[in-house]
Amino acid sequence: MQLIDGKATSQAIKEELRSVVQKMLATGKRAPHLVAVLVGNDGASETYVSNKMKTCKEVGFDSSLLRFDPSITEEELIQEIDRLNNDDKVDGFIVQLPLPSHINVPKITEAILPEKDVDGFHPINIGRMTQQMPCYVPATPKGILQLLERYDIDTIGKHCVVIGRSSIVGTPMSILLSRNTYPGNCTVTLCHSQTKDIGSITKQADIIIAAIGRPGFIKADMVKQGAVVIDVGMTRITSSETKSGFRLVGDVDFKNVAEKCSFITPVPGGVGPMTIIGLLQNTLLAAQKVIYKNAGSISN
Ligand code: GUN
Repeated sequence: MQLIDGKATSQAIKEELRSVVQKMLATGKRAPHLVAVLVGNDGASETYVSNKMKTCKEVGFDSSLLRFDPSITEEELIQEIDRLNNDDKVDGFIVQLPLPSHINVPKITEAILPEKDVDGFHPINIGRMTQQMPCYVPATPKGILQLLERYDIDTIGKHCVVIGRSSIVGTPMSILLSRNTYPGNCTVTLCHSQTKDIGSITKQADIIIAAIGRPGFIKADMVKQGAVVIDVGMTRITSSETKSGFRLVGDVDFKNVAEKCSFITPVPGGVGPMTIIGLLQNTLLAAQKVIYKNAGSISN
């Protein structure tokens, strides 16, 4: 069994990003600028966003955090989004999810200019992804693809079982791994809450991507000997052993599953750090106008 070290991989990519930023600055360009919009004070979102901002600083990106009260109306939030869409000094921005229930998430996602949608959630970016056109690939699947690539994991013709159909992870992951490229060319099965007898399906998997948010859901008897297991779960549970009072638990019963695997990601230190990398790489692409080449000054 080989552990897939997302922390070390993310550190190596951070070095690469840092040196690209330094070259940009040396040629008179400004650093890439990411803005995060945070509505309300959900504990997990606070942690995720503060890690995103911290990592921006580490690689030399500019970053800004815009906080709004949970009572903000949908119209007010869309006004803020319009302002960011039209701000030439903002390369990309994200609206951290979840949002309060009175705000319609698809409406907010659609209000973000595709050129600045570094989460890759806008229907145009998702559509382009399905067509294998240049797009911002959602950060978590993007991070997972890079782990598979950097660990030279064979995906061609493999049966990949994705568990969870969220628009942030499961759905884009299933599309990406079925594309005719590497990492990809998998035969993909997407399991979700209505799937019957998930264990009988996961047992046939060469690659399992668990993204359901249920601690320890994947047990050893659900995994084939030699499988690759990618754990996207990040449930926060209270703990007296950590300074924060929380610890992160994955979707995989790591202790018992690990010994059956050829490769497995730990939690923490697996997919989590790579998600931030995916976001920063998208922000760099936005600053360099790689995906939408003519996206220039869009104000007025
Ligand atoms: N909430 C959980 N993951 C994400 C993410 O990748 N992007 C945004 N915007 N919100 C999230």
